[in-house]
Amino acid sequence: MALPSRVMTNDEIAQMVDTSDAWIRERTGIRERRIAGAKDSTATLALRAAKCALEVANVSPADLNLIIVATATPEYLFPATACLVQDWLGAENAGAFDLSAGCTGFVYALSLAAQTIISGAADTVLVIGSETLSRIVDWQDRGTCILFGDGAGAVVLRASNMPGGVLTTLLRSDGSGGELLALPGGGSRYPPSPTTVLNGMHKIHMNGREVFRFATRVMAQATRSVVEDAGLTLEDIALVIPHQANIRIIEAAARSLGMPMEKMYVNIERYGNTSSASIPIALCEAIESGRIKADDYIVLVAFGAGLTWGAATIKWVPTPPPASPLEQRAHAVRYWWAALRSAWRRFWRRLESRLKGPATASEK
Ligand code: UT7
Repeated sequence: MALPSRVMTNDEIAQMVDTSDAWIRERTGIRERRIAGAKDSTATLALRAAKCALEVANVSPADLNLIIVATATPEYLFPATACLVQDWLGAENAGAFDLSAGCTGFVYALSLAAQTIISGAADTVLVIGSETLSRIVDWQDRGTCILFGDGAGAVVLRASNMPGGVLTTLLRSDGSGGELLALPGGGSRYPPSPTTVLNGMHKIHMNGREVFRFATRVMAQATRSVVEDAGLTLEDIALVIPHQANIRIIEAAARSLGMPMEKMYVNIERYGNTSSASIPIALCEAIESGRIKADDYIVLVAFGAGLTWGAATIKWVPTPPPASPLEQRAHAVRYWWAALRSAWRRFWRRLESRLKGPATASEK
């Protein structure tokens, strides 16, 4: 995982809009969130998380066949953030694309990665959830600006003969609720213009109450469904990692499932809602703190803009031993080499276009 170092407390937000630390804590469970600094972006956070994941998995970027970045705040509309990460990593043998499914993006990407591996089309896939929501939040709207934060998390999925890994997934969408959570400006419907900027159309618009209602309905349903599909019962599940949107939504899901809150992983108090990064960040912390052990069954469950929702049941397989200091140094050299190669390609492309002039008919 990768988080910006800047912490923004509720008290700081209370200086910008009419709210209070007590209200935010009570209604959302959030105490503070991370905010991207001037040098941070969705791609740089994604890269940092990706490097950590590759190191933990002890996988070289050259082994990657596919890189998926789930994000609602891509670096640009295009090129894809995933392509920037591919270049910076020097993942020469990988395809790369971004996936837009709101806060459910990571679960969608994980499902897609697992299916791609099962089909035999790929062997090793890097899945990243990365967001800089602070850049699209309306800092004058107290209904939304209290909720969101920035960060990234990543996992490496690899084909294996060992039973386990991603067992079942569920992906759903109800586009009729699209306007409940949207960033209306900047696309082909409302291209950027002074009017879209003046009307705040490049910021998050949300009907919080309706999203809340939808979320409490689908979280428990989706969890039940993937657990049953895996031939398991809720008692078999060691830990549920829910999308961190609001503690009350997580508590409602736990009540509906009849599960104790100890089985729900919660870190919303420290990071707020980081959209598609919230589950991989929580997963990372759960592993680091020993909440997930080898052979545990866990469930990831999320909901978000679209509307979308989804879940996955996973049997956690032992994590490979981490890279040795020597291997870590080899990784560092590889990244340095990748940067050099990328710079050389840019230079060569410029030189070639100067020397050759416009593309000839045969080249076209
Ligand atoms: O990843 C998906 C992203 N979105 C979500 O998950 C959002 C889901 N929704 C929510 O988490 C909650 O709906 C919110 C936290 C956004 C709002 O909480 P709520 O308990 O649903 O509040 P509400 O919208 O029903 O508003 C209750 C009152 C209103 O005042 P009145 O009309 O009763 O006088 C609001 O104006 O609370 C007021 N209010 C606030 N007061 C202080 C709304 N936001 C604030 C605030 N500080 N930040």
